[in-house]
Amino acid sequence: MNFELIRAVVSKSLRDRGVWGTVRRTAEYLVKTRAVDEFDVRNGTDTSGIEPLWKFSISSPNAKFGGRYHASEEWELAGAAKVLDEDLSSFTFVDLGCGKGRSLLIAARLGFRRVVGVEFAAELAATARRNIQIAGITNASVIDADAAEFSLPEVDLAVFLFNPFRSAVVRRVASKLEQPRVGELYVIYSNPVCAEAFDDCQVLQRAGSAPARWLPTIIWKLTRDVGTTPQAPRELEIRAYKSSDVTALPAVLMRMREHDILRGRGEVWNQPTEKKGCGDSSAELCGNE
Ligand SMILES: C[S@@+](CC[C@H](N)C(=O)[O-])C[C@H]1O[C@@H](n2cnc3c(N)ncnc32)[C@H](O)[C@@H]1O
Repeated sequence: MNFELIRAVVSKSLRDRGVWGTVRRTAEYLVKTRAVDEFDVRNGTDTSGIEPLWKFSISSPNAKFGGRYHASEEWELAGAAKVLDEDLSSFTFVDLGCGKGRSLLIAARLGFRRVVGVEFAAELAATARRNIQIAGITNASVIDADAAEFSLPEVDLAVFLFNPFRSAVVRRVASKLEQPRVGELYVIYSNPVCAEAFDDCQVLQRAGSAPARWLPTIIWKLTRDVGTTPQAPRELEIRAYKSSDVTALPAVLMRMREHDILRGRGEVWNQPTEKKGCGDSSAELCGNE
């Protein structure tokens, strides 16, 4: 149990809801967390329910930004995967905040080449591994890690998030995506309360959306020209000088400036942007309800 988190959650609930509101909310949790849904009945797995994070041992300082566990629905993920319009058998699916791993079971059955879950609550990660075993899935693995620290593999990738954490961590993930990489990249963000973090990402563009229980799932795709050619602005500048094409210079210099900011030449690269306004309240983060 994470007593620090319990203290923070209870104080906030008392502030927001008062004593009776907090008691009612706790009672709702106790009922909801016991419910076993149809997915688990069908598969013999343990992925249902809502699990508040204070129940778990999480060493990461990002625990305070994390959202409670609640599973994805099959139809939501299947709908989002269709938007990719790709041969999924060449893509690796990475769920940042995989919880008990339901999305991993769904993604493996949708035909992804490999599925990887990243989870910072050790107990949830262990349950996810058990579920993978029960479901007989052989191309899945679960990594005990904080999503903010996780290095994404350089393969064709679909990064999935089901509203797992607040903007401070979403922005750190988004900033990692801006690093030059090999392979295709999609971001599938379900219940995307911090969508602007990926919209602000210069290397991504929206590829579509899919219906979901709460907010529609949004899908972004890597735009290859910016994402994989970090030297391009410098090369363009040299070419413009060589050809004496002075009219081309302002645009090139502008792009260099953007590029330098993105790539950290102005020392802003590794600083997480603590931009407020999306998913910063726990009410929003717990919007998976
Ligand atoms: C809403 S659940 C999503 C469950 C799963 N992705 C699914 O779709 O079924 C959010 C999960 O993210 C995890 N989480 C939150 N912050 C995290 C972080 N910084 N690193 C890793 N996991 C995190 C929580 O422990 C929780 O299991």
